[in-house]
Amino acid sequence: MRVLFCAAECAPFVKTGGLGDVVAALPRSLLAQGVGVRVLMPKYRDAFAEIGATETVARFDALMGGPATVQAVRADGLELLLLDAPHLFDRPGNPYVQADGSDWPDNHLRFGALAHVAAAVATGTLDGDWRADAVHAHDWHAGLVPLYLSMQGAGAPPSMMTIHNIMYQGLFPGEVRAELGLPEQGFTPDGYEFHGQVGFLKAGLMYANKVSTVSPTYAEEIKTAAFGLGLEGVINHRGGDVVGILNGIDQEVWGPATDPLINSHYKAPNVKARAANRRQLNTRFGLTPGDGPLMCVVSRLTEQKGLDLLLNALPDFIKAGGKLALLGSGDRVMQQGFEDAALAYPSDVGTVIGYDEALAHQLQAGSDAIIVPSRFEPCGLTQMYGLRYGCLPIVAHTGGLADTVTDCDTDPNHGTGFVFTPVTQAALSDALMRAIACFADAPRWRGVMRRAMKQDLSWDASAATYIDIYGAIRADTGVAA
Ligand code: ADP
Ligand code: GLC
Repeated sequence: MRVLFCAAECAPFVKTGGLGDVVAALPRSLLAQGVGVRVLMPKYRDAFAEIGATETVARFDALMGGPATVQAVRADGLELLLLDAPHLFDRPGNPYVQADGSDWPDNHLRFGALAHVAAAVATGTLDGDWRADAVHAHDWHAGLVPLYLSMQGAGAPPSMMTIHNIMYQGLFPGEVRAELGLPEQGFTPDGYEFHGQVGFLKAGLMYANKVSTVSPTYAEEIKTAAFGLGLEGVINHRGGDVVGILNGIDQEVWGPATDPLINSHYKAPNVKARAANRRQLNTRFGLTPGDGPLMCVVSRLTEQKGLDLLLNALPDFIKAGGKLALLGSGDRVMQQGFEDAALAYPSDVGTVIGYDEALAHQLQAGSDAIIVPSRFEPCGLTQMYGLRYGCLPIVAHTGGLADTVTDCDTDPNHGTGFVFTPVTQAALSDALMRAIACFADAPRWRGVMRRAMKQDLSWDASAATYIDIYGAIRADTGVAA
């Protein structure tokens, strides 16, 4: 079976969050199970400086306003197809936003072009030797893929749309449909229209053969207005076509026994080497070692992540003996809030504002716990990395957090972390206090840690589920094997 992935990120080349990790790890797991996966993504400036020679497999004289090529290359165990369209992607900085934080004004053309090329590659019109049996589109950036495929009529490969975060919907003024070559008859509430706008994610949800999201609990949550954020009607309309498939983690990239980004390696049940990693963190974050736990945050700083609740909970947390090391970037007010906290409590709170892959790994390998107080969380990867590294997760009971962490006070025999609900400062504070109390009982803490580190977080089972779905949608659409 051949599957084409279409996405805006793929680690380690381009990553702004969990999407990049998943678009690298899932294909590797699928490849290991015999699926021929290719990953189509934009060739951003600087992202691929080290991949070596590429092979041009397709050319466009005019793709949404300029010439473009598709280049194939094998890198990091993946078969990549890079859309090289300098007028769209040869720019500095972030894939989605310009230096001042506002969206690139031509994002509809950038990701419309990506989707258009995905549909062409998938049907074999570009590279005659390769045709996809199924296409897997990720998030709004690839939302037009199912629509462009549907425009090719019967015989086009079937598609699957995965929602990594329904908050980002890719909405653009209705007029852009002409530039994007979208069919007029689809510009209705039953099609790709969303309140007079062109909805990229909505198009994916309406035209894909199957829809998935990244945890079973989030798949239920997005049926409601509070989590569906306007798209709950579409999700309910698709009914049984929407499934929740839990993300896994790449255990080669994230494993404390071999991780090249950490200094002191260890393997459960012997976690003594964590102490050296912890000392390095204390130095890096300027913290004074104490008897209480060192907790970390590795996160985008957005409303979703609920870290404003943590800011407010800090005084009590510090009084109880907790220490905090935070790595994050995003919302300016929140950045300032954590920088101010580090100034106010210099020996107890350390803040690094920015994006630092190595430090993210080091925080998992040296902190005692990781705090993820999200208001919603489609899956969440940092709590899973925490489980694997013995950095116990303290999480809100929502989405994938609820599906991956078991509370050790409620369920002492199976608990792997601390879970709280509702997502309020009081409930978060209570969980932090419970964690501090548990940490003081060293044998008990070690027991929870041992269970956490044993949890199966691999991609194997979820990748097999995706393979079943690719097979099923292919059979439904009658595309010959
Ligand atoms: P989301 O995708 O919503 O941001 P996830 O938990 O799924 O949340 O994934 C976040 C990913 O991004 C993890 O790999 C995490 O380590 C990484 N990450 C988040 N913020 C930073 C940062 N400031 N520096 C380095 N890595 C980060
Ligand atoms: C999104 C979600 C996050 C999820 C990630 C990978 O960024 O916010 O919860 O883990 O995608 O699927």
